Amino acid sequence: MSSRHAPEPASTGPVPSDGGARGAPSEEPLARHLLPDGAQVGPDGRLSVGGVDLVDLADEVGTPVFVYDEAHLRARCAEAVSAFGTGVAYATKAFLCKAMARLAVEEGMSLDVSTAGELGTALAAGVPGARLVLHGNNKSDAELADAMRSGVARIVVDSFDEIARIGRLVGGPQLTGGVPQQVMVRVTPGVEAHTHEYVMTGQEDSKFGFSLASGAATEALDALRAMPGVELVGVHSHIGSQIFRLDAFEREVALLAPLLERYDLGELCIGGGLGVAYLGAEEAPTITEWASCLRAVGSAAGVPDSARVTAEPGRSIVATAGLTCYRVGTIKRLEGIRTYVSVDGGMSDNPRPVLYGSGYEAFLPSAVAARRPFAARIVGKHCESGDVLVADARLPEQTQVGDVIATPVTGAYGFSMASNYNRVPRPAVVFVGGGETKIVVRRETVEDLLRLEP
Ligand code: LLP
Repeated sequence: MSSRHAPEPASTGPVPSDGGARGAPSEEPLARHLLPDGAQVGPDGRLSVGGVDLVDLADEVGTPVFVYDEAHLRARCAEAVSAFGTGVAYATKAFLCKAMARLAVEEGMSLDVSTAGELGTALAAGVPGARLVLHGNNKSDAELADAMRSGVARIVVDSFDEIARIGRLVGGPQLTGGVPQQVMVRVTPGVEAHTHEYVMTGQEDSKFGFSLASGAATEALDALRAMPGVELVGVHSHIGSQIFRLDAFEREVALLAPLLERYDLGELCIGGGLGVAYLGAEEAPTITEWASCLRAVGSAAGVPDSARVTAEPGRSIVATAGLTCYRVGTIKRLEGIRTYVSVDGGMSDNPRPVLYGSGYEAFLPSAVAARRPFAARIVGKHCESGDVLVADARLPEQTQVGDVIATPVTGAYGFSMASNYNRVPRPAVVFVGGGETKIVVRRETVEDLLRLEP
């Protein structure tokens, strides 16, 4: 049962591309499906999201700025809950701040946190421990103890060293109020997903989880089942990210299903990984399609109807809800070579093009329905040539210095992977909806950058 959408992954060199379809960049106006649900084009051709005009927003809040359509975020969380049911967790690594943690939990999701920082942010947002799942391939004693003290719903165990660490902690002074800590085992199923090698995780050669083929997974399950103070509730695996083809998930479920029966476990979490369209030519399965495919494969593979088959979507919840607005600072035309359009952000707010060769589109919020015949390379303000945001952008002819330019589908792994390279302060993050703009993370200042230094 493969997705009817499933574009074949294209290759752009020695490593596979992001996973989606790649064609020649289009001069057509930006494709509607790359914009948030709440995007609307006014009679003057200007784009508003959630009732807020983006050019006005950029003038007021400054650039670069990450703009999220709050209703879109809520709709995707609600879709995940209705598709997977209770226990489906938002993978906070995709985008986290207190407002996002609260929003996802208000919509019924749990949260996957994988570091002390993600755990601390969720707790600071008022999220109860019972809605948290702790991940990580190298959890420290302190992270494990904090998680247990906070009453996290699940710890997803990743290594034999961690099993020993958990054993010491549950055998020591009481951290969980006498309640056994529920744990799952992260299994490496030996499934290679079609995606960039940096975000593939299900293959045998991986730092994550316990290998199914080598027997490490069953050894871990045996050890945890026998450990006093913990309750083994299920198996987990995560095969990678930005995956368009559902067949890899199907293989994952089929491989893990027998473990549920063998260990009499009631829960199977298949991780995150559902891809999203970044380019007009791409189309991805929906969360609902993903869930129904997994359930069908699970049933066929013998997962009992009573078992909880769940997931941890990150990108598919937040990517398309967000976009980044920049301001054009310079346009450099190199005769016979190319034109460079420089904006006031760059690899510090979106390292994905540099890291994974990820493709993006660009448009002018002042003319979102305009054709885009102007070929340019959109670059940032950092001191290196690799600082490329959109290698082959198409823009409206009238694009000029001072314009607000936007890249859509930057809601996932942009803000969360932002850096201060070149001592560039990180952008503000706003939620828009009902004609209102809420600053959920204020723009960093140079003073913020200096605050750690004596
Ligand atoms: N669960 C686990 C255990 C994960 O490691 C991840 C992502 C997810 C869930 C969520 O996966 P998603 O639904 O977002 O694909 N920085 C890369 C993506 C790294 C993904 C890391 N793990 C990128 O920008 O493409």
